[in-house]
Amino acid sequence: MRAITKSFDSNNVLRKVDFRLSGGEIHALLGENGAGKSTLMNILGGVLRQDSGDVLINGKPVSFAGPKDSLAAGVAFIHQELNLINDLTVYENLFLGREIRTRFGTLDTPRMRAESRRMFERMNIGLDENTMVRGLDASYKQIVEIARAMMTNASIIIMDEPTTSLTEPEIERVFAMMRTLRAQGVGIVFISHKLREVIQIADRYTVLRDGETVATGQVAGVTAADLARFMVGHDVRTDMLTQTRKASRSVLRAERLSGVSFKDISFDLHAGEVLGVTGLLGDGRSELFLSIFGAGEPYSGDLYLEGKPFRLKGSARAGDYGIAYLPRNRKENGIIKDMSAIENGSIVVWPRISRFGFIDKQKQRAMFDEQVKSLRIKMSKPTDMITSLSGGNQQKVVLAKWLSSSPNALILDNPTQGVDVGAKEEIYDIIMNLARQGVAIALLSSETQEIIRVCDRALVMYHGRIAGEVAGETMQEQTIMRLATGDGVL
Ligand SMILES: Nc1ncnc2c1ncn2[C@@H]1O[C@H](COP(=O)(O)OP(=O)(O)OP(=O)(O)O)[C@@H](O)[C@H]1O
Ligand SMILES: [Mg+2]
Repeated sequence: MRAITKSFDSNNVLRKVDFRLSGGEIHALLGENGAGKSTLMNILGGVLRQDSGDVLINGKPVSFAGPKDSLAAGVAFIHQELNLINDLTVYENLFLGREIRTRFGTLDTPRMRAESRRMFERMNIGLDENTMVRGLDASYKQIVEIARAMMTNASIIIMDEPTTSLTEPEIERVFAMMRTLRAQGVGIVFISHKLREVIQIADRYTVLRDGETVATGQVAGVTAADLARFMVGHDVRTDMLTQTRKASRSVLRAERLSGVSFKDISFDLHAGEVLGVTGLLGDGRSELFLSIFGAGEPYSGDLYLEGKPFRLKGSARAGDYGIAYLPRNRKENGIIKDMSAIENGSIVVWPRISRFGFIDKQKQRAMFDEQVKSLRIKMSKPTDMITSLSGGNQQKVVLAKWLSSSPNALILDNPTQGVDVGAKEEIYDIIMNLARQGVAIALLSSETQEIIRVCDRALVMYHGRIAGEVAGETMQEQTIMRLATGDGVL
């Protein structure tokens, strides 16, 4: 890609960006939220058209009228936004737009099913190809997206944050596939905010900052800290954030909670603590907390809030109880697509900022501006539609909304998913501050490093049960992994 420029109205998103991908390499495309990564790849994927500059494949200039043209030129795109059709099965999604037909022209369902199964076997993923996509967890949806791209026999594969909702073992499998493809000469663009992964898998990197290329080179010889510095323009800290806190009263107490996806769960969440909850795919942590929040599967057992029995039916009243919940799958559950950024950001505080049913626009604006500043949300103006923000910035808006609701208990499911290294630190600071103010925080995360850095203690789940608790000395990657894989108890 040569001297690519692209603007949205007055917003110059890409300014003469050069990007060169070789066959047989994994090339990491890095940059802060809103730097222009997805925009650049949307041009290669035929989703957007550049204002100027050239795209060349194998040295020949190409011009794509749409994603179909790009696919025909051998470019497969795994989008940051999940792009599956909920009302179709897994295998129907895999073959969407390139269905296999029999010689009579009818759909060759048995063959499509068999090829889907073979793909999942190769990926070592136990997923039934006949499942409806609607019922799949975000991680499985991501796996289906990856499988779909793998099946197109593309020579270029764009992976826009393919691992955000995957856990270690699945990521390893995806990496193994990527290495196989690389050996076959496929060029892979890998976009990720997880710099450790980048170091592990990529051969070369290119860093965008504010729509310009600021660094490019071989990954061998740079550290994650170097990459972070290229992205944000200054050093990013990596120190431990936890501090030993005094034991305090229980804010939320769960006794023997059992549902379909979780069994016999008991724990206390104390005021002022950050309790980590982690595990691998299928561990049931998201389902558990969704149920506690009154928006998940039915369950038996008892819940206590400040010592009093309570149970939420429907999340609408959660605010009255002072419980806030940041959902994991924010693309689907967190944003209201036809509302602006500021409306999305202040929806849970509407009662506090309205008088006689009217929203106090000034108050709303002041509160939102504050959040925009502290989370460094990048957008043109607050009244922009939420969907025009970059993926990571949309995440920050959703986070802003829950942070401003001043809860007693805060449940955060993967709060830093898809946000850049700098903003991650801001989010950790906010979590730490809230904990110091006495808020009880449950931090659900699949990133072991995050759990270790931020949490005072952590529950490790395995197949819906608490496999063990780690704290202090036992708060280590190895111990957590052992518990998460069901490999013995402490
Ligand atoms: N359709 C659009 N309309 C208006 N502005 C847009 C549109 N798409 C992207 N932008 C703007 O372009 C800029 C770059 O966005 P882009 O999605 O490329 O960022 P990114 O590097 O992928 O970030 P992230 O890490 O958050 O995914 C952002 O400021 C965003 O608001
Ligand atoms: Mg993006």
